[in-house]
Amino acid sequence: MIAPLPFTPDLSVKPEVEGFFDEATNTISYIVKDPNSDACAIIDSVMDIDYAAGRIAYVHADRMIARVRERGLKLEWLIETHVHADHLSAAPYIQQHLGGKIGIGAKITVVQETFGKIFNEGTEFQRDGSQFDRLFEDGDSYRIGTMTAYALATPGHTPACMTHVIGDAAFVGDTLFMPDGGSARADFPGGDAGTLYDSIQRIFLLPDETRLFMCHDYGPNGREIRWETTVGEEKAHNIHVGQGRTREEFIKFRTERDATLSMPKLIIPSLQVNMRAGEIPKDPTGRPMLKVPVNGL
Ligand SMILES: [Fe+2]
Repeated sequence: MIAPLPFTPDLSVKPEVEGFFDEATNTISYIVKDPNSDACAIIDSVMDIDYAAGRIAYVHADRMIARVRERGLKLEWLIETHVHADHLSAAPYIQQHLGGKIGIGAKITVVQETFGKIFNEGTEFQRDGSQFDRLFEDGDSYRIGTMTAYALATPGHTPACMTHVIGDAAFVGDTLFMPDGGSARADFPGGDAGTLYDSIQRIFLLPDETRLFMCHDYGPNGREIRWETTVGEEKAHNIHVGQGRTREEFIKFRTERDATLSMPKLIIPSLQVNMRAGEIPKDPTGRPMLKVPVNGL
């Protein structure tokens, strides 16, 4: 069952969208600006990590902070489309410099419950989403200057995945990749291929001309990196779900494909940091410290 859209899309609102590609993780972070004010949001920021050395840095985040300042913008929101497993969020770092509220899907509590167990977190790790400033339910709205943004629940890759729809632009996180990239895996704890298919069909309820912005691109077959497409393009050409591929076909394909994929290189640090809204966990003496659960994932 595809749940109907919980809002009416307004294509007359056209946010200015600037993408920032992170080469280390193939992530695209966005500055989304209200054309009628100085207000903006940042979607899916990235903190740099040299995992082998246990060293973090903020080159990518600093680029975005500099850009917000250069344009004289006011940062109102730091949005996470989901708990990323392949890069670390820089939301708290950016918030320190520019302000704004950090928001994620309310089902983050499910993700925290699952990975709180896997990482054997103590009772001091809150599983209620309280590390975030705002938890979005399906259909919730928020303002970016004069624009109204809507959170659309699109689970499947993870339970907390949300697509954020702002005027004629939608930020799909890892539900979809570019048409020649297909879709994201659905085999992480709490993921589900059928649910992902249904969520993609939900995105397809948006008008065909809606601009879609990807969270990742890997430049399949050697093409240059791209991150913007439309609902119409995805429906017509997506290699996993386009051209009316059925739910059963998708589940079979996705499940078989996922069985061949290795874990993302940064899944262990990413989950520990991102389920804390981008804060690095601390050991009992207060030093930043990450864990590796042996045979736990
Ligand atoms: Fe992801």
